[in-house]
Amino acid sequence: MEHLMAIILAAGEGKRMKSKKTKILHEICGKPMVEWAYQCVKNSGVDEIVLVVGRNSEEVKEYMGNKVFYANQEEQLGTGHAVIQAKEFLENREGQVVIMYGDMPLVTSKTISLAVDYHKEKGNAATIITADFDNPSGYGRIIRNSQKEVVEIVEDRDASNEQKKINEINSGIYCFDISALREALKELDNKNDQGEYYLTDTIKILITKGLKVGAVKIEDRDELAGINDRIQLSDAAKVLRKRILNKIMADGVTIIDPDSTYIDSEVEIGMDTVIYPSTVIKGETKIGEECIIGPGSTIESSRVGNKVEIKNSVVIESCVDNETKIGPFAYLRPGSNIGKNVKIGDFVEIKNSLIGDGTKISHLTYVGDAEVGKKVNLGCGVVVVNYDGQKKHKTIIGDNSFIGCNVNLVSPVEVKKNAYIAAGSTITDEVPENSLAIARNRQVIKENWVLKKGILKKD
Ligand code: UD1
Ligand code: CA
Repeated sequence: MEHLMAIILAAGEGKRMKSKKTKILHEICGKPMVEWAYQCVKNSGVDEIVLVVGRNSEEVKEYMGNKVFYANQEEQLGTGHAVIQAKEFLENREGQVVIMYGDMPLVTSKTISLAVDYHKEKGNAATIITADFDNPSGYGRIIRNSQKEVVEIVEDRDASNEQKKINEINSGIYCFDISALREALKELDNKNDQGEYYLTDTIKILITKGLKVGAVKIEDRDELAGINDRIQLSDAAKVLRKRILNKIMADGVTIIDPDSTYIDSEVEIGMDTVIYPSTVIKGETKIGEECIIGPGSTIESSRVGNKVEIKNSVVIESCVDNETKIGPFAYLRPGSNIGKNVKIGDFVEIKNSLIGDGTKISHLTYVGDAEVGKKVNLGCGVVVVNYDGQKKHKTIIGDNSFIGCNVNLVSPVEVKKNAYIAAGSTITDEVPENSLAIARNRQVIKENWVLKKGILKKD
């Protein structure tokens, strides 16, 4: 069977990141860079992916799990050596193999497909993705003969002064014929300036064998950026962010200020939603149509319906149903499930609670571990006292009930439907249906108390 497989080289530790975390697990727009590389080859139709890992193997395996195969490179003896570590995967297979690095998050599947298609069409043994760089220093150069055919790749440090002037660089991404690569790897040596096994040397080996080698030169040089430090990480993030936002806008979403909007790659947003400045949307968040999001909102791993407003608020791992208004300055913590046409106003915090349709919680309220029914009104300053110092408890509030201002609901407690609670009450026992609960002292007036005390202030 003809395979299209990929080998992603990722054994490097990435010392220049100055991080405890291995380089390829650093995130860009919500995904580690190795995940970008993985999805890039996956979406180009690759059916089997081998990741070459080194000392970072445990860390990488923990994230990538079994969606890829692994080859271990104990010692980093060069890119050719890295591919040799994956040779068991090249045995008994026919077809093509794409090779790229795990620290190139900007490459698109389109570019990979372009190279693979060209490779097959030309019947090449190897096809190199190249580009013209204004400043090619540090990169391997593409050496061509007088017929413009590729003859070899020379590393910068091994290049003559003449060769150093060549602008066409090796991107480090290739498509090889599997069996041709298998044979070429057997002939690699490390007789170069660095004493490494260079994958690039396979090009000359294949040509010596009389096999065809070609190159696909791409225009968008951005795609070929490799990430070595945090400055390059932020530059790459800028490019990816722009791609993500452009796609979202192309699908009919208005983004008022793309420069201050940060949306992860897996986020989905419906048509005619407007995103105001300083908004961050992360994880696998799904937002419906005709919503107003922001300014200044953070939404993480949440589901948001249609015609919802979320202004200056934070929503984490929660659901918000149609036509509900959140904020300004509300905080929905994980497990909040907010119904339709609800109002969650300023300085309201909700945690792990169900809020029924049409309910209003307009200001200065905390609701934790509660089930609040439909069309309930929680007055200003209501607190669900869900924690007794040891355990969390649940409060249930029935439909249509009215909870006055500054009421404490000491959990576990239940307020049945249509009940009223007087302002300032501390509720510890069940409130029956249709009743009024008052749980506070009656007001006492001591006439002329100030005069009797002799504490009247003189003007
Ligand atoms: C390599 C190419 C060069 C090309 C450049 C593009 C070779 C010999 N040179 O150079 O022609 O222009 O990439 O960026 O291939 N890696 C391993 N194991 C190793 C060595 C490297 O896994 O033993 C991985 C690294 O993690 C890294 C990638 O391969 O992601 C590239 O290695 P690096 O040493 O940076 O190659 P360059 O010298 O930049
Ligand atoms: Ca490099």
